[in-house]
Amino acid sequence: MPKEKISISVVKRLPRYRRYLGELLKENIAKISSKELAEMMNLTASQIRQDLNCFGGFGQQGYGYNVKDLYDEIGKILGLDKKYKTILIGAGNLGRALTLHFDFEDAGFELIGVFDANYKEIGDICGIKVYNMEELEKFCEINHPTVAILCIPKCNAKEVADLLIKCGIKGFWNFSQKEFALDNSDVAVENVHLSDSMMTLSYHVSEIISKNSETDK
Ligand code: NAI
Repeated sequence: MPKEKISISVVKRLPRYRRYLGELLKENIAKISSKELAEMMNLTASQIRQDLNCFGGFGQQGYGYNVKDLYDEIGKILGLDKKYKTILIGAGNLGRALTLHFDFEDAGFELIGVFDANYKEIGDICGIKVYNMEELEKFCEINHPTVAILCIPKCNAKEVADLLIKCGIKGFWNFSQKEFALDNSDVAVENVHLSDSMMTLSYHVSEIISKNSETDK
């Protein structure tokens, strides 16, 4: 089935399926039914079947899903088998934390360099070289990175993104708080706001508290 027919809400659920399947693989579990997977993931079995049917379905009646095959297939659908060369812009608190602690390899990315406009920051982070921004164009000409992670202040984000597009970048993981949609359909942007997730948590916590206070009355 062509990719454009897959709804974005299904695509957004795929990393979670893959994460759970990865856990099953670590436990040497070879097959799982949609009912069991649904129970683990707090979804319904029909939701799982419906999602996976978007890609042609991977299960067999009476057998369930082969965990390894499904894990690999979802990885392929997400493009994780391609190992995109990635650069990170902004070696401050957030950029350093991601470079040090985020498992790029597992997510299908290869971090090949970090860039910062500030000369004082130049060096390396855990073996990944930090370059000055002046070296960006040359670096891209030689190494052809596909993805850029923006960990810079929002005032500089669009200007830096435009330069990166000229350098061949096809996708942004954008933490800069400057939410931009590009006119260019050949470039993808995933705007990330950790605060959105905290606010969703806040909503659920306030629901629980108000439900408890209702039952206490
Ligand atoms: P920071 O001030 O520690 O680091 C920013 C780094 O960017 C500095 O090293 C600076 O030299 C560099 N920089 C500035 N302009 C640049 C440019 N034009 N080119 C290359 N490098 C440049 O800031 P921090 O704490 O690391 O945060 C970075 C950004 O991420 C901020 O905009 C912050 O608001 C945002 N942020 C976003 C989060 C989210 O959930 N989306 C969570 C936390 C921070």
